[in-house]
Amino acid sequence: MKNTLLVANWKMHLNTSQASMLVHRLQERTRIHRGIEIVLSPSMLVLQPLSTQIDRRKFRLAAQNAHYKDEGAFTGEVSFNMLRDLVHYALVGHSERRIYFNESLELIRDKVAAAIRNDISPILCVGETAQERKDGHTRQVLHDQVTSALSNLTARDVSKVVIAYEPVWAISTFGGEVAKPEQAAEAIAFIRHQVEQLYGPKAARNIRVLYGGSVDDSTVRDYLEVDGCDGALVGGASLNPYKFAGIIESAYRLRHELGEDD
Ligand code: 13P
Repeated sequence: MKNTLLVANWKMHLNTSQASMLVHRLQERTRIHRGIEIVLSPSMLVLQPLSTQIDRRKFRLAAQNAHYKDEGAFTGEVSFNMLRDLVHYALVGHSERRIYFNESLELIRDKVAAAIRNDISPILCVGETAQERKDGHTRQVLHDQVTSALSNLTARDVSKVVIAYEPVWAISTFGGEVAKPEQAAEAIAFIRHQVEQLYGPKAARNIRVLYGGSVDDSTVRDYLEVDGCDGALVGGASLNPYKFAGIIESAYRLRHELGEDD
């Protein structure tokens, strides 16, 4: 049985003391759930201090970005190699990076490979814009984003990848529209189908696929109930300890009701 994976993407919010305060509040409100994996993704600067504060039975850490080379003359950058003992996961290809930092399909492919090379599980973010959906290009966009990002990997590597479907139009700071669970279901099934085409049915079954985009404590259950959805990538609501603890509680309750709370 797969874990439920809940990832808090704090984006460019919270300095060290604010992040520490939020973790303190979350730690008070969160029980240890064996079936639920909770991952916090703070700013780069905050990863190190949080690594000594978090209760590792409850939380893991993710970087929001890193450079694809292990080292070199790249002023201002931090590599996956430098993060390898600090984080379990790294977000790769978030739409904000694709849009604001012009990250290309090739760059994202190289970052996925760099994460794997350094024993970090990439959380590959994919998703179409409002215009692409309107033009009927959703499948093409997902196809291109998934196939190019995974193209340098072996089947064994792919088992470490997590894919997050985040339609850009549903991210609270872009469109903020709420995606229907059926829309998430259709995209997630298509993503799995792509993985199956590339790596076969076992890889497709095993890979974890998350949903992200305006998820909060009142909607998370609808997405977690979607067939093939293994968790959620949460932005805005993860900055609020009550809401994020509510999301964790909802996930727990759902597993319990399904008899999966081992
Ligand atoms: P929101 O949950 O604020 O829509 O953000 C989603 C997101 O981009 C998480 O990576």
